Amino acid sequence: MIMLATIAPLLIAGAIGAAVVGLISPETMIEFALAAGENPGMITFGAMFLASPVQWLTGRSQVRVRKYLGITFFLLALSNGAMFILEQGLAASLGAPFLIAGSVALALALPLFLTSSRKAQRAMGMSRWRTLHKLTYVVAAVLMGHVLLIGDIGPGFVLVMLGFIARTAPVRRWLSERGARRRLG
Ligand code: HEM
Repeated sequence: MIMLATIAPLLIAGAIGAAVVGLISPETMIEFALAAGENPGMITFGAMFLASPVQWLTGRSQVRVRKYLGITFFLLALSNGAMFILEQGLAASLGAPFLIAGSVALALALPLFLTSSRKAQRAMGMSRWRTLHKLTYVVAAVLMGHVLLIGDIGPGFVLVMLGFIARTAPVRRWLSERGARRRLG
């Protein structure tokens, strides 16, 4: 999973490099980076959102996986937003409800990205850090809104939805009980 998450930002960096040295046109680079931020971005977010349920089920810490996927998601989302603005201009990013939802999700993900390090955790204290990182739920809901407004539900949307279902009390209890049984057996 961690290896997979690295691929998309590397491809974006490669596309930017190829455009800089003139191997591909700036338009191709923008199209490529936009596409990398859409479905791969949503899938990365969905996988990150499922890391805690996987931890409850397996009893194995997913903290590093979650952090890595979160950072990858933000880089993809940032590339997506930046390329959109490059192509259409800043005002266009608020030009329709689905664009406002995408921009809000990106803006809310920024403080999460900036505080994703252990250093930031220590500086803020775990309790305040956890409270801030509850914003992840808002980002998840707003991203679902972005996709629903476009009307193009893909695999990432399904993962995010599963993440919400896994957090309902009965499913969370079931996952945790199975995890506890696994650890004992
Ligand atoms: C914050 C992270 C974001 C994620 C994860 C995300 C995800 C997605 C997904 C999954 C799609 C559907 C792709 C498809 O069906 O092929 C999409 C489409 C799109 N997104 Fe986002 N998006 C994000 C942010 C943004 C931002 C900031 C903007 C621009 C302000 C934006 C503009 C668009 C546009 C223009 C489309 C294409 C709509 C269409 O096909 O009609 N997105 N996005």
